[in-house]
Amino acid sequence: MFYEEIHKAQSDREYMAAWRKVNLAREGQDTFITLNNCEAYVSGNPEVFSPDPAMTNATQMLLNIAGDFTGKSVLDVGTGTGIISIVAGKNNARAVLATDIHEPSLTCARYNVEKHDLGNIVTIIKSDMFENVKERFDLIIANLPFGDIYNHLDIDRNSVAYQFFANVRNYINEGGRILVASASFGNVEEVRKLIGEMNLEPIEHKEKKFGVEWSVFEFCM
Ligand SMILES: C[S@@+](CC[C@H](N)C(=O)[O-])C[C@H]1O[C@@H](n2cnc3c(N)ncnc32)[C@H](O)[C@@H]1O
Repeated sequence: MFYEEIHKAQSDREYMAAWRKVNLAREGQDTFITLNNCEAYVSGNPEVFSPDPAMTNATQMLLNIAGDFTGKSVLDVGTGTGIISIVAGKNNARAVLATDIHEPSLTCARYNVEKHDLGNIVTIIKSDMFENVKERFDLIIANLPFGDIYNHLDIDRNSVAYQFFANVRNYINEGGRILVASASFGNVEEVRKLIGEMNLEPIEHKEKKFGVEWSVFEFCM
C-alpha cells in the first residue's frame, strides 16, 4: 500500500521515508520477488534486505550492468536473499561465492539456492567482508550498506566502504570487473572520494528512479 509513495517520491528524503514504511510493513510476511526471471523468497524479517524492484533500483541495476555471467567466477559480497548469486548461477556462471555477515540473510540465501537447485554452483559462507574469502574472481558484485540519510556511517578505516575498497584488489583476477552500488541518499560523495584516494578508476553508471540518483561504480581491472 505504501509502494505508491515510493513510486511518487521526488527526493532522497521522500524515498527513504516511503521505503522505511514499506520495509516495516514486510514484518512477519514472507514475500517473493522476481529479477531477471529468477524468483527469490524474501524473509518476513525486515533486516533481510528486499531486492524488490518496486522498492530499490540498486540490485536490478547491478544485474543489468553485470550482463553475461557465462563461464565466470563470481563473488557476491553481502548477498542478502542470494538473488544476485541465483541470477548468476542460472545464467551459466562457472562458480559463485555468496557471502554475508548476517545470519538471517544467510538462512534466506541458503533456502533460495537450494530451491533453485544451485548448490553445485553457488557456495554460501558467513564472512565479514573478505575475512573468509580465499580466492580471486572474474566478477565481484557488491551492494553494501555505505550509510544513508537516517543512518550516517562515517567512512573511516573501520567502515564497510573502506574495508571493501582497501581490500578488493586482492580478490579480483586480472581483466576482471568489480561492480559496486551506491545512491544519492547514501554517502555517495564520500564513496567517490574514497575511490579516488584508493587510486581506483571507475566508470560511474547513473539512473534516476524514485526521486533518487542510483550509481553503480564499475572497475575494469
Ligand atoms: C543492501 S543489502 C544487499 C543484498 C543483496 N546483495 C541485494 O542486492 O539484494 C546489503 C547486504 O550486505 C550485508 N553486509 C553488511 N555488512 C557486511 C559485511 N561487513 N560483510 C558482509 N556482508 C555484509 C548485509 O547483511 C546485507 O545482506
